[in-house]
Amino acid sequence: MDMTSKQTPSILLTGGTGFIGSHIAVEVARAGLRPVLYDNLCNSKRSVVERLGSIIGRPVDFVQGDIRDGDLMRRTLREHHVSAVIHLAGLKAVGESVQQPLAYWDNNVVGTLRMLEAMNDCGVRSLVFSSSATVYGEPQRLPITESHPLSATSPYGQTKLAIEHMLRDLSVSDERWHLCLLRYFNPVGAHESGQIGEDPNGIPNNLMPFVLKVAAGQFRELSVWGGDYPTPDGTGVRDYIHVVDLAAGHVAAVQRLDGMRCEAINLGTGRGTSVLELVGAFERVNGVKVPHVMKDRRPGDVTSCFADPSLALQRLGWRTQRTVEDMCRDAWRWQNASAARTSPD
Ligand code: UD1
Repeated sequence: MDMTSKQTPSILLTGGTGFIGSHIAVEVARAGLRPVLYDNLCNSKRSVVERLGSIIGRPVDFVQGDIRDGDLMRRTLREHHVSAVIHLAGLKAVGESVQQPLAYWDNNVVGTLRMLEAMNDCGVRSLVFSSSATVYGEPQRLPITESHPLSATSPYGQTKLAIEHMLRDLSVSDERWHLCLLRYFNPVGAHESGQIGEDPNGIPNNLMPFVLKVAAGQFRELSVWGGDYPTPDGTGVRDYIHVVDLAAGHVAAVQRLDGMRCEAINLGTGRGTSVLELVGAFERVNGVKVPHVMKDRRPGDVTSCFADPSLALQRLGWRTQRTVEDMCRDAWRWQNASAARTSPD
């Protein structure tokens, strides 16, 4: 099959130039499908498209656009012969969502609504949605299964939950839709080429991006938010998942959409890692120091959160393959490669 032809069915990736989208593009191409990236570049860079082309070995289609632009979405779906959409476009900073709730409802919820209308108009009714473990709110029991009660503790979480509800309603209304809601735990790491990775604007909120900046000497020290949690070492526990494993989970979902109506599935490793364990692993595998100080708990943080990933194995035939050490090594390689690219000499 000529994979460069616009006649070949393709997979549209909204938010395709972002951290997770770019890694999914690589896995989609590796699976013999054609990724088409759709992104308004509000939190990612156009240069990702070229770097993806060099990883994949052929040019990658990119449409600069907003998911709220129904006309452009319809044009893109038709011109690129899209057979399924992986929907990742959205705003995702918890703190910012408290300050700007309307921007979150507009981009995430209204954006998804406009996109679904366009898909319906074009007869494209297969969708994998980027949801989050944030929809479980404060964990009531661990590990977290998909039947855990849902709640939201921030406007960001509310928008993810609202979209999940919208998709369920849609599924009930029309059996031609095939929907999969993937609930991510904590994606970290980077592609092993060092060419793509997480590139947050401004001061990072999340742990791994901050660890990278401290290790690179851009910040003096890491603040560890809380050393008095009821965990073995007192620091918060999360289920960190390598972004390449996460990406492979999306391809598995796309390939099994035909057998689904509307299913929510966790993407995690099933293993909890504390902040200090992650920092220790990072220092060990990379041979660098990450100076850190204990601080008070960050408001809104939970003690522990990790997945029961057994449904993903059962329904998608997917499980993670990479360790926390791999995540630390690959993230550091990306940090160094991107620093070298942006250095003046
Ligand atoms: C956060 C969001 C979550 C979102 C996810 C995206 C909050 C409350 N939750 O999850 O909704 O889906 O990001 O990846 O913001 N930590 C430090 N020092 C730091 C940064 C983090 O000690 O500078 C600790 C945190 O207290 C936590 C762990 O590292 O124990 C992970 O934090 P983070 O990477 O921000 O992810 P979450 O809080 O799990």
